[in-house]
Amino acid sequence: MTKLWGGRFTKETDKLVEEYTASINFDKQLVYEDIEGSLAHVTMLADKEIISAEERDQIIRGLVTIREKVAAGKVDYSVANEDIHMNIERMLIDEIGPVGGKLHTGRSRNDQVATDFHLYVRKQTKIMIKHLENVQRAIISQAKDNMDTIMPGYTHLQRAQPILFAHHLLAYFWMFQRDKQRLEDSLKRVNWSPLGAGALAGTTFPINREQTAEMLQFDQVYPNSLDAVSDRDFAVEFLSVCSIIMTHLSRLSEELITWSSQEFQFIELDDAFCTGSSIMPQKKNPDVPELLRGKTGRIYGNLMSLLTVLKGLPLAYNKDMQEDKEGVFDTVATLDGALSLLAPMLKTMHVNKENMYQAVEQDYSNATDIADYLATKGLPFREAHEVIGKIVLYAIENKKYLLDLSLEEYKNFHHLFESDIYDVLAYKNVVNARNSIGGTGKEQVKNQLIHAEEFVNQ
Ligand code: ARG
Repeated sequence: MTKLWGGRFTKETDKLVEEYTASINFDKQLVYEDIEGSLAHVTMLADKEIISAEERDQIIRGLVTIREKVAAGKVDYSVANEDIHMNIERMLIDEIGPVGGKLHTGRSRNDQVATDFHLYVRKQTKIMIKHLENVQRAIISQAKDNMDTIMPGYTHLQRAQPILFAHHLLAYFWMFQRDKQRLEDSLKRVNWSPLGAGALAGTTFPINREQTAEMLQFDQVYPNSLDAVSDRDFAVEFLSVCSIIMTHLSRLSEELITWSSQEFQFIELDDAFCTGSSIMPQKKNPDVPELLRGKTGRIYGNLMSLLTVLKGLPLAYNKDMQEDKEGVFDTVATLDGALSLLAPMLKTMHVNKENMYQAVEQDYSNATDIADYLATKGLPFREAHEVIGKIVLYAIENKKYLLDLSLEEYKNFHHLFESDIYDVLAYKNVVNARNSIGGTGKEQVKNQLIHAEEFVNQ
């Protein structure tokens, strides 16, 4: 087949070269963006009288027909036509004749591919924000059901201080909130139009870049044609934000896995989200959060690989840049799957409130509160800490918890102890006493929930 760029060549392309350099097998995902960009471009060409109105109408009709065929699954892409841009252009010429060849006037594949990719990343960024919001909604719904569920809070994975389970869950709400903000913010930079930058230097045709930018709902045009065709920062930024999202998903997954273990038994994931073992009949495995955690690696990898492709790349377009797309497509598919599953999995998980409470009871995580108690009564906190350390040691040696010790025993350690110590040590009070802004006290968590709900459309 003759190439659209075949004029200066005397030989056919080597078959292996053709396959090696083609990107159609993956960039066909940009088909709708490519057609959208072309529709804007051809409209502008006619407005600027670079082509006639009649030619424009023919080309638009052709592009719309192709778009319908794509939607109906009726197109065959060919490796010989290398990429999505030339596949569509070839189809157009086949559809409407040589006039189709006028579409590429005043344009290069370099500004074309950049435009397509911007449109794609913009669309996916918006979808990702919606996905994150769904997860946030699931978190809110679980938090509401667990406003009185007390669990041990951990540091170093050692029981530290009792907290509300709602509080723990909501911590993830804010991570996803920041992720959403990062995505929103990145849209400002995604939303620059490269179209009209030409191959690298602009074009001799009297085009109107502002018009195509506006038609494609970009905020502005790239002020520099070299930058326009060489910039992939927006893709790097998208992958960076996705990497941060995966970090959050991975940490949450790890907790879900730990909490569902026999050792913890804090939660049980719904049967619909677990799988069994081929040999051990008793097993119910948390495969979904495990895979979620595991897939983090490939997203970090996609980010690293694009950064590495761009590193040291001279201006302007280089074929290396064709390597920008697969990692982004893979990231979109991976996060799409992860986030779609996470929301219903969180919503349907069963919380073993009694087990969580038992873990709090059979522990010393109210020790800080006795230290605070003595400190409130005037003892310097450092001294109080020392006294309570001795009390905890005594309790452990005597196989008792802090609520089991008698007032006499307490008084043996310090004369400031009174009978009100038992109220201070009661777990519910331990939680609710942490009434500082952002603390785990129920009043604070209620405020937090109200605040959180302002950020999601119900
Ligand atoms: N398939 C190419 C890519 O994805 C399109 C741009 C090609 N431009 C060029 N001059 N070879 O990057």
